[in-house]
Amino acid sequence: MLAARKKEFANELDRTDIRKAGMAGKDLLSVHDLSVDEVYAIFEVAKTLKKKQQRGEEHHWLKGKTLGMIFQKSSTRTRVSFEVGMWQLGGTALFLNANDLQIGRGEPVKDTARVLARYLDGIMIRTYSHPDVMDLAQYADIPVVNGLTDLLHPCQALTDLFTALEHKGTLKGLKMAYLGDGNNMANALLHACAKVGMNIAVAAPIGYEPHPVVVAEAQHAALVHGSAVEIVNDPRAAAAGADILYTDVWTSMGQETEQAIRYKAFQGFQINREIMALARPDAIVMHCLPAHRGEEITEEVLEGPQSVVFDEAENRLHVQKAILALLMGDQ
Ligand code: CP
Ligand code: NVA
Repeated sequence: MLAARKKEFANELDRTDIRKAGMAGKDLLSVHDLSVDEVYAIFEVAKTLKKKQQRGEEHHWLKGKTLGMIFQKSSTRTRVSFEVGMWQLGGTALFLNANDLQIGRGEPVKDTARVLARYLDGIMIRTYSHPDVMDLAQYADIPVVNGLTDLLHPCQALTDLFTALEHKGTLKGLKMAYLGDGNNMANALLHACAKVGMNIAVAAPIGYEPHPVVVAEAQHAALVHGSAVEIVNDPRAAAAGADILYTDVWTSMGQETEQAIRYKAFQGFQINREIMALARPDAIVMHCLPAHRGEEITEEVLEGPQSVVFDEAENRLHVQKAILALLMGDQ
């Protein structure tokens, strides 16, 4: 193993370290499925690949490999970071609109999985149903990466922790306050924070709390890794003393018909100047984007000096490349 956890952002790795991480051939559906060492291996490889990219050094670690990218929902960051990432790693990415595949006309996931596995070296999928992604992973004997489901957005949560590590130097013992919808982002962050020993407080309106199974998994992981998981309905209580303030849209993809009712339900859960005043003075502000200014976050805070949202967006590229290299690289 890389012993990366102990070194937190130590030396650069090379291609042979990829095999030592032992992740080749695995899927990435949920941060909860990863070991702590695997999480830090992703961060170490991302750090190395970011430096190589910045120095203009070739890093064709996935030469000749092809990633299929199935999208049933819109995307800017996920699509572009995975596609550019594959190119930078010397491979190819195929954009597959789910509506253009036979899957959109009812071909079973288990058939699609076995067919695609005979052409491709990996699949990234963004869709609604998390169980569909689990089926895909079960039937495709190549790595499957969850690029967002209604339940989880693990690649974003890993990128967020990588970005927090860059800004704060450590993760253990920090407090993240997540304000807003207990959606795929909140669920993924619960898994991710608990896994690395970060405290997380999620404040959501009654009826919009995170998934109870995810909360239970995070609480168990937090117990093991020495941190706290709190689910509250008071945004001010969550924000108190936070090192990181995080929010996401109030209406996620697929929930558009609920927009008006959600807008009402989430009043008081906005990250604004008053909420910022409750957090630590050096707190950073995060948002996975796209953002709805004036709803979950004010323009002032999003564009303010404590916001790191565009670092997060950039880091999607470096972290996605690390995930692809670790799962699809076998040199
Ligand atoms: N944050 C994120 O996943 O963005 P996209 O929806 O643009 O991919
Ligand atoms: N919760 C949002 C995240 C977008 C990246 C959604 O699912 O639409």
